[in-house]
Amino acid sequence: MDKKIEEFLSNVEEKLEFFSQLGIDFVSFSSPSKESPFLSLKEKILHCQKCPLAQGRKNVVPGEGSLNTELVFVGEAPGRDEDIQGRPFIGKAGQLLTKIINAMNFKREDVYITNIVKCRPPENRNPHKEEIRECCGYLLAQLELIKPRVIVTLGKVAADFFIRSTSGMTALRGNFHEFENIQVMPTFHPSYLIRNEGNKEIRKMVWEDMQKVMAFLGKK
Ligand code: URA
Repeated sequence: MDKKIEEFLSNVEEKLEFFSQLGIDFVSFSSPSKESPFLSLKEKILHCQKCPLAQGRKNVVPGEGSLNTELVFVGEAPGRDEDIQGRPFIGKAGQLLTKIINAMNFKREDVYITNIVKCRPPENRNPHKEEIRECCGYLLAQLELIKPRVIVTLGKVAADFFIRSTSGMTALRGNFHEFENIQVMPTFHPSYLIRNEGNKEIRKMVWEDMQKVMAFLGKK
């Protein structure tokens, strides 16, 4: 073996031994190159004052999850619970989203979850076009760093951002659409599922959409 490689391996071995003596038996080899630009992006998002939503917010909700994921979920905007805690999808709709993610054989922390706009619109109204225009650079930067293979959009606002079409959700869902080399699967928003709790047809459609995502990612 090359002397340099041998030296390098013995160095690594020594370090692992040192970590294990400290009781650390897990060393992350995830690329640090993503984390530091992501942190500075997060800082920018947290201090954003680009649109009037900044005035009404309690907390900014940048997003959360794995940066090394192939799968990103994008909702519309934070709601009341999310605004209070600064975390995406943690209210009733979020709990349902977590169940869907788990049913897809992922853990919530294995995927990345975010929204089109990062601050709560008053009374949970849909975000305005100008608010989306000001905020969307953050989402695009997040996607540029994560480089997922699939984006699942939740609801019409998120679908409309990625897919240039005048069709409604029922026509859009069920098929992949392409956005900057990423496959986008639009599906219904979990709040819509909750509002139509007895409607098995909608639930079935969402599950069909998620199965297509799982098949694409080789997760069956
Ligand atoms: N609805 C959304 O679209 N996003 C959230 O984060 C929570 C509810």
